[in-house]
Amino acid sequence: MNTLRALRFAPPFALLASVASAQSAPTTAAPDLALASASQLLGLLPDGEEKRRFILDCTGCHAFDARVAAPGGRARTAVQWDSATHRMLSYAGARTSFPVISAAREPASTSQWLARWITDSSLATVAPSSPPASPKVREYLMPMAQDLPHDVAVDDEGKVVITGMFSHRMYRLDPASGALESFDIPVERANPRAVVIDDRGAWWVLLGGPRRIARRDPALGLWKVHEIGMYPHSIGVDAAGRVWFNGHFTRDPEQIGFLDPTSGAVTLRDVPPHPALAKVDGGPIPYELRIAPDGAIWISELGGNRLVRHDPATNTFRTFDMPTPHSGPRRFDFDAAGTLWIPEYAGGKLTRLDPTTGRFTQWDLPVRDAAPYVVRVDRQRGDVWVGTGAADALFRFDPRTARFTAYDLPTRGALVRHLDIDPRTGVVWVAYGASPGVAARVARIEP
Ligand code: HEC
Repeated sequence: MNTLRALRFAPPFALLASVASAQSAPTTAAPDLALASASQLLGLLPDGEEKRRFILDCTGCHAFDARVAAPGGRARTAVQWDSATHRMLSYAGARTSFPVISAAREPASTSQWLARWITDSSLATVAPSSPPASPKVREYLMPMAQDLPHDVAVDDEGKVVITGMFSHRMYRLDPASGALESFDIPVERANPRAVVIDDRGAWWVLLGGPRRIARRDPALGLWKVHEIGMYPHSIGVDAAGRVWFNGHFTRDPEQIGFLDPTSGAVTLRDVPPHPALAKVDGGPIPYELRIAPDGAIWISELGGNRLVRHDPATNTFRTFDMPTPHSGPRRFDFDAAGTLWIPEYAGGKLTRLDPTTGRFTQWDLPVRDAAPYVVRVDRQRGDVWVGTGAADALFRFDPRTARFTAYDLPTRGALVRHLDIDPRTGVVWVAYGASPGVAARVARIEP
């Protein structure tokens, strides 16, 4: 019964949680290869469009680390890849209720391609090493190891608010004492995935499976819950107090919307249809949503490869195609001037978009195949922070010098899905998602 419920709300993620617990015992992987980062293993696959599509389809839930790519230190056969791919498509294929794998993905070519490039002899060329211990990084374990701490937000006391997507609770970490408070949400299997804190200190929490937005009052700790009628991905509060969201799996029409917190009314806006994917199962996969300094609402399309700008006042849209096909624009941000900084998850680049000229500029990350997942700009200091899904590292980019600084994370398989910056200190907080086997945690990085 429990499993069935879980399946209805977030099938693959719920499964992922159960596998994480089953695999938390030491694996039989040869110790050396288990110390390889996912970017090292992705490095065995030839660069190009096929690889970018693979990164998009197959490394969003779990990293391509040794547990997936080479269990026990050995290459999988094409037959083994084929059966795993069939199973993945049954969880999250384009015609399932959680369609994060594109309609183009099919097991035969996927398994041939993987077995061709991930072989015992190609694996022997990987030089794994222990993750370095950095005094600048401190990790904090979540109470439930199989949880998925999805998003983090630093509040105005410097405490860190965390969404527990699998434990269905919210958490608040006090970095000074290390104490972690936990908060119930009055919705069954609440599935909190994103959180923002408004300027009065209220938490606005997106509940994925239940298709709702919940607000927690800062003074009394009371919750108010609003129906929005679609599985949302990201959330933002504009200057007028309207709470914006995007429909993660909407495509025909593709939609964003906002909640008026006073009336509870929800207004939907149709995004210009994606030219290739609006009519295709799976669709463009609306992803991040951010509000620009000028009040425009922007979203990215992970599969659709576009950035979309919406002007709420005129109800108009403008779309921008990413310069590289299938690059996977994921969780982008704005700097103080309104320029976009976009992580290309599959393209492996940090990309800047000037919204007035529509001009893109791209930079390679210091680590190849890093799978940059999330960008947040420290608007006080001008630094651009990049969290990655495959490098077990965080990067700081200084736009003035175009130089990157790397911060190694102490955990292999640290799929960083989100980060936030304490504006007063510049300290960075990151959340690691669950790849099977990695106990859930958040980490503090001293720049
Ligand atoms: C929606 C989340 C999700 C996506 C997307 C996803 N996986 Fe998985 N994957 C899982 C989960 C959950 C498990 C653990 C349960 C299992 O093995 O069935 C897993 C496990 C695996 C394993 C280990 C299986 C084993 O027997 O040890 C492989 C290999 C794998 N995935 C490959 C892939 C490939 C290839 C793709 C792309 C086609 C992919 N995954 C996409 C969720 C996902």
